[in-house]
Amino acid sequence: MIPVDLQGKSGIVFGVANNRSIAWAIAQVLHEAGVSLAITYQNERLYERVSKLAEGYDRITLLECDVSDDQHIADVFSQAQQRLDNISFVIHSIAYANREDLDGEFSKTSRQGFQTALEVSAYSLLPIARYAAPLMEQGGSIVTLTFEASERVYPGYNIMGTAKAALENEVRQLAYELGEKNIRVNAISAGPLETLAARGIHGFLDMRRIHAERSPLRRNITLEEVAKVALFLCSDLSSGITGTTIPVDAGYHIMGV
Ligand SMILES: NC(=O)c1ccc[n+]([C@@H]2O[C@H](COP(=O)([O-])OP(=O)(O)OC[C@H]3O[C@@H](n4cnc5c(N)ncnc54)[C@H](O)[C@@H]3O)[C@@H](O)[C@H]2O)c1
Repeated sequence: MIPVDLQGKSGIVFGVANNRSIAWAIAQVLHEAGVSLAITYQNERLYERVSKLAEGYDRITLLECDVSDDQHIADVFSQAQQRLDNISFVIHSIAYANREDLDGEFSKTSRQGFQTALEVSAYSLLPIARYAAPLMEQGGSIVTLTFEASERVYPGYNIMGTAKAALENEVRQLAYELGEKNIRVNAISAGPLETLAARGIHGFLDMRRIHAERSPLRRNITLEEVAKVALFLCSDLSSGITGTTIPVDAGYHIMGV
């Protein structure tokens, strides 16, 4: 039982692909806290899987959203506005890079590959915040997902490290812009989790092993641990926190060796 009560609140969780998606873990924990939700899936191909997941959840609505299409983002917010009252949070849990740009020599990243990764993984937070803000009449919380490759070199992460650095910068700038409306913007920097997106990272299983060996807690983190911090950030418990990146990584980021 999650000891946070968000009954009467609602919001949107972007980026559910399957039962291992961080977005799905967050949606479940938020649902347990009593909220009404719209969850988005990227395209028709994912619809069946995501709709099966949401079966039996009375307060979850499904919406399609490809963030590379501005109209999709606008449609999600207009549909969410019709179906949900009192929108107070948005979770952005979306990233993408071409497989060839997640390996090999970073300097060989193509112009197109750079644009794709930055557009989907970082730019997308801006229109989402732009559409969300007017709906958050009593303030709100916007949460995105990042990774430590924004600051340190993780071979195999390549262009996604650049995208995460941009994303974390956006969190700070959006926090400043939206702060006067009492809208908070934060990122969770998660340790490695075995999800669909992670499968594209070369050497991912080694990364997990090394994190488990060297982190202060001597283990990998769980999806639920990330979800619980998202819940905290969506609740009033975190009312004084904005513009920050919270590591949920078993403490790995403090280690020198
Ligand atoms: N898994 C990890 O180890 C880890 C660690 C730190 C941060 N993250 C971040 O967490 C977030 C969620 O990833 P995940 O690990 O849950 O994997 P995931 O594959 O379950 O989620 C990624 C989501 O992004 C969506 N997506 C990709 N391109 C899109 C587009 N054009 N429009 C709309 N949606 C699109 C996918 O459909 C999917 O739902 C990502 O930002 C990822 O970088 C993951």
